[in-house]
This record gives sequence, structure tokens and C-alpha cells, in this order.
Amino acid sequence: MDKERFEELFTTHLIKDIAQEKIDIVLSGQYAKALELLRDAEATGLFPALVGPPGVGKTILCRYFASLRAKESQGRSFYWLTMDESIKPSHFIGSFDPAITLKKGFTLEAFNAGPLLSAMLEGGTFLANEINRATEFSQNTLLEPLEEASIGIPHLGRIKADEDFFFICAMNPEELSGTHRLSEALKDRIKVWIKLTYPEKATELDIIRINLPEQFMVEESELELIYSIIDETRKNKIDIEVPASIRAGIAIAKLLGRKRYLEEKGVLKDQDSVYNHLADISKHVLLGSIKPKPGVKVDTIIEGIINKTIGG
Ligand SMILES: Nc1ncnc2c1ncn2[C@@H]1O[C@H](COP(=O)(O)OP(=O)(O)OP(=O)(O)O)[C@@H](O)[C@H]1O
Ligand SMILES: [Mg+2]
Repeated sequence: MDKERFEELFTTHLIKDIAQEKIDIVLSGQYAKALELLRDAEATGLFPALVGPPGVGKTILCRYFASLRAKESQGRSFYWLTMDESIKPSHFIGSFDPAITLKKGFTLEAFNAGPLLSAMLEGGTFLANEINRATEFSQNTLLEPLEEASIGIPHLGRIKADEDFFFICAMNPEELSGTHRLSEALKDRIKVWIKLTYPEKATELDIIRINLPEQFMVEESELELIYSIIDETRKNKIDIEVPASIRAGIAIAKLLGRKRYLEEKGVLKDQDSVYNHLADISKHVLLGSIKPKPGVKVDTIIEGIINKTIGG
């Protein structure tokens, strides 16, 4: 891509303000309660953690919360960092540009601020995503910001955070994460623990609806079937270690919606029953959406679920 085109595209696609971002979120059931807890934590200056398996809405809830804060007070931007073992303190704080540092030394001008430092300076929201995947060494970077609302930048000095600075972390439950645990020191500084899990049926159906493009709508009876397939993966705790998330249900619904759309347009030569469509689509989605227990074949599980819910 040439430079000019890159600049033009980048500028049009730039998210300037989280307050302006359209976030399609369902706020019933556990999400209403979780949002209320986030607001309580914010009002009391306590830092919260969202804990839940993949795809239950941790990130979207944080984005929505951050957008509310940004609407209330301009400049409270939203920064986030998803962690794993390779995350270093400089990824939080920022680092010196080698070329400028060579010419000018360790000056402010040579420093590129990282997301945590930016949020602290602007009074924004910082989300530490998958925080228990970071090493303890990197987790320790957060101790001073959370306890003292300050942070030391090598060569430059310490800064005090804006009083609106807010920190949220999100993680999968420890038994799923497989990597590092949250350090005791960090755990002790996080005071509001919010559990999210697979939502109740009515809420999950609303979430699927809100995520469906208008032209790919499916019927209520079809939504029910999709939910029963997804729910079955969550009930089968003997064979399945990680069941289908909300994302899987959305994906199945979208693919079914598209089949419906093509049938209505007369593009598909042969019309097929919803059962056949669903059986086929579910196979393709569930294959990578569930994690079987060791020794169990994913195909066998999927076949069992399809037989049970929509018939073979
Ligand atoms: N309350 C909700 N309203 C609307 N959409 C939702 C809601 N909860 C989840 N979703 C949708 O479900 C999908 C997964 O949500 P999200 O990415 O927030 O999950 P997560 O818990 O952060 O997952 P991970 O642990 O994998 O990061 C997204 O497509 C999101 O739009
Ligand atoms: Mg997420």
C-alpha cells in the first residue's frame, strides 16, 4: 500500500473517541448487575476484575463501561492490553524511540507512552485483559499504579495519575488459563470480583439477535434450536472441557440466516430443511468452538449433540 493511501485510510478508520463508538450490548440479567458493580467500584475508587470463561462478554462490557465514562467526561479514553508471557513492563509504560534517543538522549521527546501511562495521564480507563497470563514480573508493574496511583518512568521520573484514572482487569478462571496465576500482591489490590458466566437463555437469545445483520434474520423457532445446541455443549461436562461460547451461537445463527436469505432470493438450487442446514452449519462451527476432554473425539461429541437436539 502506498503511503498516501495508507494515511487516508488510516485517518478514516481511526477510532477517535470511545464515547462516539456504537456498542450493541444487551444489558439484562448478569450484565446489568455487572455494570452496576463496575459503577460502584468506580465511585468508591476500588479496582474490579471480571472473571469468566472465553466469550461471555467481558470485553464488550468493559468497552461499554469505558464509553459511558467517556461520555460523562471528555478525554477519559479507553486503553487495553491483552497479556501473555511475552508482555513486558515497557508494553504497559512505554519506551524510548531508539533513533531519537541516540540523537537527543533519554528525553520526553524520545518517549512513546504506553497504554497504562496514557490512561493514567488522561484519567482514562485501562483494561488489563487476560491478566493472569502475564508473568509475575510484568504483573508487578501494576502494583504501584494500583496502590499509590503513581508510576515511575525510567530516566524521566514519577508521575501521579489523574484522579479519574480507572483500572479494570479481565481473566479466564484460573483452571482454564494454564499459565501464570495472579500474584497474591496484585490480588490483594483488586477488591471487587465480578463473575460472568454463560448467560441465561433469554439474555443469550437477545445477544444473538442483536449481533445478527438485518438481512440474515432467523426465525424464533430456529433461534430456540440454536440455543439448544449451544446449551447442550455446556451440559455435557463429562466429555467437554470448554463448551461453546456466545460467539459460537452468533456464528451458527449468522450462517443459518445467510442460508435463509439465499433461499428466499432463489439463489440456492435446492431448498433444504432447517434441520439439515443446522446439522451442517453446527458441525463447521462447533469443530473449533468446543474443547473435548482428553481422549474424546470432537466429531463424536458433535454428532451426539446434533442427534439429541435436532435429530440425525
Ligand atoms: N451482553 C452482550 N451484548 C451483546 N453482545 C455480547 C454480549 N456479551 C457477549 N456478546 C458478544 O459475544 C462475543 C464475545 O464477547 P466478548 O468478546 O466480550 O467475550 P470475552 O468474555 O471478552 O471473551 P474472551 O475471554 O475470549 O476475551 C462478542 O461477539 C460480543 O459482541
Ligand atoms: Mg475478551
